[in-house]
Amino acid sequence: MTKKMNGIFITGTNTNVGKTQVATLLARALQKNNISVAPRKPVESGCIVDGNELIPQDAVALKNAAGYSGSLAQVCPFRFEPPISPVRAAHLANQALTTEKVAQACTANVNEEKEFLLVEGAGGFYSPLCEDGLNADLAQALKLPVILVAQDKLGCINDVLLSVQAIQSRELNLVAVILNQTATTDNPYMNNEEDLNNLINYPVFNIPYLQQNMPFSLPEKLLNIILDKI
Ligand SMILES: Nc1ncnc2c1ncn2[C@@H]1O[C@H](COP(=O)(O)OP(=O)(O)OP(=O)(O)O)[C@@H](O)[C@H]1O
Ligand SMILES: [Mg+2]
Repeated sequence: MTKKMNGIFITGTNTNVGKTQVATLLARALQKNNISVAPRKPVESGCIVDGNELIPQDAVALKNAAGYSGSLAQVCPFRFEPPISPVRAAHLANQALTTEKVAQACTANVNEEKEFLLVEGAGGFYSPLCEDGLNADLAQALKLPVILVAQDKLGCINDVLLSVQAIQSRELNLVAVILNQTATTDNPYMNNEEDLNNLINYPVFNIPYLQQNMPFSLPEKLLNIILDKI
């Protein structure tokens, strides 16, 4: 449905599956290809308290990976301390987030002609994000193509198929599914990538378990799919 890709919405099958990992790899890869990236993690809970400030760790990682010269407030305008659902965290802070407000914060200060909008959601595709909507509603409001990240583990096929169906039901353009190894696995019998390739007609990529500071680039084929559409 999207004519020209000028951004991506990174969603997941759940929280903690590797959305930031994938988003930072993508930001670095785009930067290497001389594409300016405007990263957004519009809503982040579980922020670290530093004096009077709340530090959103995902947003900091995205800003650094993208080499973004905009402010951290532009990357992450809505920050909350408790590591809970953003909607509940916002309530506790006497704030009300709406999908429109959050979508506007994503696109504000972005140069549509020159910048690639890279948005990381919060939690999974159906995780609540605002008073009036889920992550799915933000993705729809932004009309961005979607990358789905899943933890590569036993049971992930179910998670991926449910999420794929949800993304399709919102008529969004699913660019790829990424199976991300957030832990080492020594199960030689499991091959979720192969199994998913037999079940869905979307490109599936694997990101291995990366030891700290281990150099790794986003799979070139995935980057090319994205670059082809910019
Ligand atoms: N391929 C990988 N290799 C090693 N560690 C990984 C890998 N992917 C993710 N991790 C680690 O797993 C944890 C969760 O990853 P990440 O923060 O990217 O998930 P997320 O989906 O962005 O989570 P959240 O829902 O909190 O935004 C982090 O500690 C991250 O460093
Ligand atoms: Mg994250």
